[in-house]
Amino acid sequence: MTRERLRLALQKSGRLADASLDLLRSAGLSVNKGANDLLYRIDNAPIDVLRVRDDDIPTLVADGVADLGVVGLNVLEERDSAARAPEEIMRLGFGRCALKIATPDKAAYEGPYALDGVRIATSYPHILSRFLDAHGVKAEIVHMHGAVEVAPRLGLAQVVCDLVSTGATLEANGLKPVQTVMESEAVLIRAPRPLPAALAPVAERFVERVRGVTAS
Ligand code: PRP
Ligand code: ZN
Repeated sequence: MTRERLRLALQKSGRLADASLDLLRSAGLSVNKGANDLLYRIDNAPIDVLRVRDDDIPTLVADGVADLGVVGLNVLEERDSAARAPEEIMRLGFGRCALKIATPDKAAYEGPYALDGVRIATSYPHILSRFLDAHGVKAEIVHMHGAVEVAPRLGLAQVVCDLVSTGATLEANGLKPVQTVMESEAVLIRAPRPLPAALAPVAERFVERVRGVTAS
């Protein structure tokens, strides 16, 4: 059976969650939170909002479980490159942050080659390893799933490669940013194949509305 409502995957909580809902509202959509925590209904358009972990959004959209999604470029770029990729529709201009190399000893960093033979803790092993390859540097990547900023104090790694927005987390942990690996912001993505005939015009109208409020 074909679906009659467009599915839009948004981050349930975290960096982009509130701003993503604000985007829908400023695009004129009325978000009905209802009782279902996984799904919000849009009252004035045939759209449902799937509320999930940001890391799952690229897969959900690539597989067509959701038709569209809003996710950080950092999450999009970190997904397994062998997996089917969603398509990027547009950058959204919010949720700006950067993936940065940070170290307790700023003076010791004179460029990417200073990372040679160093242990680097990160939640972004794919992006980091592409960065290291591009600079011909061989370092050891320690993959952590959170609290990356404590790795140097634990003696687990000498430096970290972590997401920075205000910089408060680094500062609180005595780390200084020395190198930007990638800049990130929220992006609107779509499934990599044509949508069902009934949903295509809904998606098109939605994208136009978003474009209208994302003057950039
Ligand atoms: C990132 C990062 C730091 C924090 C930095 O985590 O890992 O903990 O944000 O922000 P600041 O510079 O403003 O202090 P995030 O909230 O993205 O969590 P997640 O990666 O687990 O989703
Ligand atoms: Zn996450």
